[in-house]
Amino acid sequence: MPDRYAVIGHPIAHSKSPLIHGLFAQATGQTMTYEAIDGGAAEGGFARALAAFRAAGGQGMNVTLPFKLQALAAATQASDDARLAGAANALRFDGDRIEARNFDGIGLVRDIEVNLGVPLKGRRVLLLGAGGATRGAVLPIARAGAARIAIANRTAAKADELAHELAPHLGGVPLAGGGFDALAGEAPFHVVINATSASLGGQAPAVPPAAFAPGALAYDMVYGKGLTPFLKLAQAAGAARVADGVGMLVEQAAEAFAWWRGVRPDTREALTRLTVPLV
Ligand code: ATR
Repeated sequence: MPDRYAVIGHPIAHSKSPLIHGLFAQATGQTMTYEAIDGGAAEGGFARALAAFRAAGGQGMNVTLPFKLQALAAATQASDDARLAGAANALRFDGDRIEARNFDGIGLVRDIEVNLGVPLKGRRVLLLGAGGATRGAVLPIARAGAARIAIANRTAAKADELAHELAPHLGGVPLAGGGFDALAGEAPFHVVINATSASLGGQAPAVPPAAFAPGALAYDMVYGKGLTPFLKLAQAAGAARVADGVGMLVEQAAEAFAWWRGVRPDTREALTRLTVPLV
């Protein structure tokens, strides 16, 4: 029997993870299967699916919406990334142990630094939004050596609270949180990341154009939506480069694959297959 892995979410039919992990397995010569599991909308669906998959010999799972919080809660061990994010996107099963990690943030950082060629060391980074996506990104961005991180959110208090909670864990990297208008007192940012869900509704967060430094990278965490209203706004504000979140998706998958299998896959083939031009 080949080793079994899966992604669990609800809905799950459109997940790209089986394709990505299939490419990784092929490229690295790993004998494994990777399936998509729908945890359903009913209460307890995630726990039941998790138990059934483990009982059937499953070795690890990726976890996507809406189960990332439940995945962390189910774990017997969790990494700093997962604990600070308050969510897990990857699980590994070892006897009675369920280990949890969160690779979304490191996937984002690797996409920005390796694929897009923009080192974060010494850079000023602005995160838009104060939900789970921002929460998971802050620690890896701080570890990459950002000079300053700011969180701006429509609901200012949420950004302020999140910044207060995370600041003590960042090894001294300055972190501030507030509303979009609070950015008026800040120098412009080299990297501006949209971690709100605004793009899904065809909207852009109300980030002031002056927040973009000349030559800035604008990054939208959504993928497959083309040039989103945020990316258009960023271009009009002078951002030199724009990117969507397809590389983040592929890179977090590569992190999970390496954690499970002990071999790091080359991500170029998956990136080529999944990248859609931003028009
Ligand atoms: P998740 O945990 O998946 O990130 P969430 O907690 O619902 O999801 O967070 C969504 C984020 O997108 C929030 O920061 C939200 O702003 P509020 O806290 O003010 O609600 C932000 N968001 C959603 N739609 C937005 C929009 N049209 N403009 C600006 N921000 C938006």
